[in-house]
Amino acid sequence: MKVILVVVTIGLFGFLLGKFIKHKSLYPFMPFRYDFRKRRDTFRKTLEFLDKTKARLIIETGTSREGLHGAKSNGAATIVFGKWAKQNNAFLHSVDISEKSVANSQKEVTNQDLGKIVQIHLSDSVEFLRNFTEPVDFLYLDSYDYSDDREVQIKSQHHHLQEFMAIEDKLHDNSIVLIDDCDLPNGGKGKLVVAYMLQKDWKVVMNEYQILLVRKSFSV
Ligand SMILES: C[S@@+](CC[C@H](N)C(=O)[O-])C[C@H]1O[C@@H](n2cnc3c(N)ncnc32)[C@H](O)[C@@H]1O
Repeated sequence: MKVILVVVTIGLFGFLLGKFIKHKSLYPFMPFRYDFRKRRDTFRKTLEFLDKTKARLIIETGTSREGLHGAKSNGAATIVFGKWAKQNNAFLHSVDISEKSVANSQKEVTNQDLGKIVQIHLSDSVEFLRNFTEPVDFLYLDSYDYSDDREVQIKSQHHHLQEFMAIEDKLHDNSIVLIDDCDLPNGGKGKLVVAYMLQKDWKVVMNEYQILLVRKSFSV
């Protein structure tokens, strides 16, 4: 009986330790319970760059359709960068083509009291970016969903390239670009856009599940 109790206790301890090690929070910036897993380190570096460059205008393509509860699955970037914007006198535009995604994201933005800082637009992202007229300090590309289907993968990669090309001339020397869902079969969302950027004057700072890029001349 005693042996069984010891084995169960060790097993439970190991399970909890494993969970704790895998859990990647953005604490103290975000509450500890939210697990940002594969995006945690790139988010952290991006937040550091946003601080250093004193970013004022952020654009996100593809909004947080699962609110903050989607931290592990989708990233919850609308809330993470919206919160940063609120604390730093900045503004976030988030654009999404789906009414449902916009409604869900808007609900969370309101819950988090970010309504004056985050504006969610219902539009195709490329069209939105083409019509945008202000300088952009941080561009986060995370719209057209990637999947296992090769045709969808190609469409998603082209869409993210089109997004970048639509807003490219609004990016300045210290702009930051982050692309989601990259470390996936056949190159993920960033395959074409990263190749395009590297031919221009951009460099990769972090290459993980997300890819973080700045200009070669970036200085902070
Ligand atoms: C992965 S989710 C975005 C997750 C969000 N960035 C986050 O961090 O929680 C992708 C979103 O892109 C949107 N989307 C797909 N195609 C789009 C397009 N052409 N223009 C704008 N949004 C699009 C989808 O409706 C979906 O809500």
